[in-house]
Amino acid sequence: MNLPRLGLGTMGITDPEAIATAIDVGYRHLDTAQIYDNEAVVGEGIARADVDRGELVVATKLWVDQLDRVRESTVESLDRLGLDAVDLLYVHRPRGKYDPESTLPALADLQADGLVDEIAVSNFELDDLNRFIDVLERPPAANQVEYHPRFQPEDRLEHAREHEYPLVAYSPLYDGRVGDVDAVVEVAARHDITPEQASLAWLLEKGIHPIPKASSREHLEANLAAQSVDLDPEDVAAIDGVEREDELYPE
Ligand SMILES: NC(=O)c1ccc[n+]([C@@H]2O[C@H](COP(=O)([O-])OP(=O)(O)OC[C@H]3O[C@@H](n4cnc5c(N)ncnc54)[C@H](OP(=O)(O)O)[C@@H]3O)[C@@H](O)[C@H]2O)c1
Repeated sequence: MNLPRLGLGTMGITDPEAIATAIDVGYRHLDTAQIYDNEAVVGEGIARADVDRGELVVATKLWVDQLDRVRESTVESLDRLGLDAVDLLYVHRPRGKYDPESTLPALADLQADGLVDEIAVSNFELDDLNRFIDVLERPPAANQVEYHPRFQPEDRLEHAREHEYPLVAYSPLYDGRVGDVDAVVEVAARHDITPEQASLAWLLEKGIHPIPKASSREHLEANLAAQSVDLDPEDVAAIDGVEREDELYPE
């Protein structure tokens, strides 16, 4: 699987047209989850769009109460999505019914059977990540964590780099509030871009894969355009240095 540099977060999207528009403007990685209650919306958007299925990376996540019924629950997700397989299946959080000794082998079986292309994890800390590697004898295909200027879990980035898997950044726009962060506003002004584009360009510069959520064509296009922004090392350092204290999704 080749993970696009920037994908679409879909939490809160309830209109299939927004998904179809995202694909139309060039998004090739769509991120949903059982708990977002919109897998059917994402599936309908994919069905409406003019794109080959093979071009898309479709990701969903098993919620914490489903981790002892991995196969049944995944089949239910595939039914809602209207797909034969997903490209990335995440463990949403290592909580609830999560048991590495049984959940992870069940996921590997799904992969062997072709229902899932790759197994990934979300909100995993170092202990959970290392346990994953012990049990399956390989790193996850991705770890998806909260990462934005006001919350920078560098230990997770280092682990991803060391074990050579992508780190996916959720809430990369600080839930639409990056314009409140002075260093981001200053970088944006220097490059004549928006604070949202500055935050995304900063993540991309660090080799992180952001998945901003956007619903309008204007926002969708603006976020994709962040891929062609070149930041200077001083810009990256300025945002790296932002006070890191606002985690939107603590345990
Ligand atoms: N794994 C997890 O536990 C977890 C947790 C949270 C989120 N996620 C994933 O990460 C995705 C993104 O995170 P998020 O939805 O929390 O927040 P986000 O992407 O940081 O911010 C989304 C907000 O920013 C606004 N926005 C988007 N583009 C903009 C632009 N160019 N200019 C101004 N405003 C803009 C959106 O408004 P409009 O909608 O009006 O465009 C929306 O209000 C989610 O959708 C979900 O897929 C995963």
